[in-house]
Amino acid sequence: MPAHEGAQGDGIPPRFRLGDPQWLLELRHLPWPVDWAACFGREGPLHVELGFGDGAFLAALARRLPEANLVGVERALEPTRWALRRLRREGLSHVRLVLGEAFAALAVLFPPDSIAGLHINFPDPWPKARHHHRRLLTPAFLHLAAHRLRPGGAVTIATDDPDYAGWIAEALAGTPGLHSRFETAWVPALPDREPTRYERKAQVAGRACFYFVWERIGPVPPPPLPRMWTPEGTMPHRIWKGDPDLPKIEEALRGRLWQDGEAIWRVVALYRPVEGAGLLIELLMAEGLWVERVALRFQPHGPGLWILKPAEIGSPRPTLALRQGVQAIARTIEEAAPALQVLSSTI
Ligand SMILES: C[S@@+](CC[C@H](N)C(=O)[O-])C[C@H]1O[C@@H](n2cnc3c(N)ncnc32)[C@H](O)[C@@H]1O
Repeated sequence: MPAHEGAQGDGIPPRFRLGDPQWLLELRHLPWPVDWAACFGREGPLHVELGFGDGAFLAALARRLPEANLVGVERALEPTRWALRRLRREGLSHVRLVLGEAFAALAVLFPPDSIAGLHINFPDPWPKARHHHRRLLTPAFLHLAAHRLRPGGAVTIATDDPDYAGWIAEALAGTPGLHSRFETAWVPALPDREPTRYERKAQVAGRACFYFVWERIGPVPPPPLPRMWTPEGTMPHRIWKGDPDLPKIEEALRGRLWQDGEAIWRVVALYRPVEGAGLLIELLMAEGLWVERVALRFQPHGPGLWILKPAEIGSPRPTLALRQGVQAIARTIEEAAPALQVLSSTI
């Protein structure tokens, strides 16, 4: 089936698509997880590249695997534009690009046992020790990767940073269900490989590269995931009866920060509507590499009633993180306006 037809029948509402419906999808607008066979309009081994940069490797892989369904994930817009241009030029209809963060994308978009080949080329090495927490290839990430690989599937990783290579080798060795396809943890070259942009740079500079190909050979227990992604059934809201003092609530909310373990919620901005009463509260929610901004409305809800609920801006998901964010805001509103009486609440 041509990609256009697959793209139409994939269950993704057209209004949630970015400019190019054939190739480009946005992480936060996709169903969790995606039915990839429906999205591509055909069954096929699923190959995923995380941080695809200019897309040359992904395009070469797509040419080599015409029967596969390929998904690239990249968080930066500029390289995504380059890759998009390349896919359009080459007419590679069995590729989709997802704009979003790799760890989150792997966790929410891909079901367990689904990926035949996972490719990670020259991930940012973050060489300074104080930046190591920004590295993508942590034990938690590799556990998740192993869980999403299908049995017999493999994760291929390339880097030219010796320190990061040592870190990756150690993390892979501790990952359940993964085994190197070679006798060593890594090899210095892989045959028949389209060099990536960063790989060519390393070769020109005479830097050695390290290639890991680790296969899923056994069972993998479900990995612990950040609570940010825990889906919940309903959108959280709370309704009060009363007459709130808006300037006092605004003052109580401005710049507020809540923390619970690794997770934080921060009020980044407050807006007053041009007409009528109320507040639009911009809330940043973050846990590890996952950062999400949502907007909440505090507004009249009929005579003498007020409601706090997520606004459509930012496409919020009914996650545990959102409920906890709404809870924190609601508590702050109630502290600033103690006369408000709760009428109904889903938080
Ligand atoms: C060093 S470049 C390598 C690009 C390409 N893979 C290559 O080998 O030429 C790292 C790429 O990964 C992307 N990236 C880094 N961290 C990411 C993350 N957490 N999620 C998605 N993309 C990420 C960057 O935007 C960048 O395009």
